[in-house]
Amino acid sequence: MLILTVCNHKGGTGKTTTSINLSAALALSGKRVLVIDLDPQGFLTRMMGLTEPAPEASSLVLFKQDTDARPAIQELPAFDLIPSSPALSAMMRKLTKPTDVLWAKEYIQKAITGYDVVLIDTAAAVTVYSLNALVASDAVLIPVAPEYQPVVGAEQTFQTVTMVRKRLNPGLKAQRFLFTMVDGRKKNHRLYREYMRGKYDATVMSSIVRTCTTLSVSARNGTTVFDADPMARGAIDYANVADELIRLVGLDQTDLAPDSAHQPAGGEEMAVPPETIQAEASSESSASPELKTSPGPNTESASLPEKEPVRESFFRPRGPFHTS
Ligand SMILES: Nc1ncnc2c1ncn2[C@@H]1O[C@H](COP(=O)(O)OP(=O)(O)OP(=O)(O)O)[C@@H](O)[C@H]1O
Ligand SMILES: [Mg+2]
Repeated sequence: MLILTVCNHKGGTGKTTTSINLSAALALSGKRVLVIDLDPQGFLTRMMGLTEPAPEASSLVLFKQDTDARPAIQELPAFDLIPSSPALSAMMRKLTKPTDVLWAKEYIQKAITGYDVVLIDTAAAVTVYSLNALVASDAVLIPVAPEYQPVVGAEQTFQTVTMVRKRLNPGLKAQRFLFTMVDGRKKNHRLYREYMRGKYDATVMSSIVRTCTTLSVSARNGTTVFDADPMARGAIDYANVADELIRLVGLDQTDLAPDSAHQPAGGEEMAVPPETIQAEASSESSASPELKTSPGPNTESASLPEKEPVRESFFRPRGPFHTS
């Protein structure tokens, strides 16, 4: 059984969209998939059509093992789900001991059987829940849109995952970046992808997820992109991600192969040096908004491409609100 966490400290990078549609793709490949929603905001739970599950029928149960509560597993058409509950937010204040990062691992080992994949969706923050997910995991997927803030968030997340692997979970065998919301027409997207591939090499998945309107609308009523339009770009892309993941972690074998692609080129120091971030911030007021060229592969001095300058046309009056 593969335990896979989807996380990025930055919000809105496609974690929940990836959790839903990758799970659906894995299920279509014949895998039995359980999704655990560990985001207290519970967007995945809501998107799959469950409004507000009772706390005792939610992922809160993972952290209340003194009760005899049975796994709160909902069977959905695409996959099974342990939904989230807003009660997770209140519970978080009580989970302050160092050993409180072990609950999810223990629960999954004790109470979850019969699945090929357990996928955990997390919130955009380092919380006791995201740490629980990482401690329980064999593999981690970091969805990242090829833009400045998501890339910074993804690099910070990579550092967190590396730290958890070293100190808390040596069983964490693979961590991968997955590009989401890729727009092939945007030069900046190409530069950020080159930057990440140059720096992290095989740690970046070959498959990418392109922008796809069907992805953003399909999961509002409990369906996935495969129900909405199996020929949509999002369906094709998540099917490719599922195939790559299955090959990567050897899902058809009993043991995960050790991962040879853990480290970024240039060692484990903080991936984005503060001076780069500072330079990036000051470049916003720069009179010369030209993009830096992307670093070549495996250069230690890899620096982030600058943010795309705001186009002049953005400020032009548009639409009915500017007719006067
Ligand atoms: N490939 C895509 N193409 C178009 N829209 C997308 C794509 N992936 C995600 N989106 C949209 O982007 C928004 C953010 O996606 P999502 O909720 O999956 O991100 P998240 O990382 O889970 O966010 P949060 O940090 O708030 O949990 C959503 O409106 C979603 O529909
Ligand atoms: Mg989310």
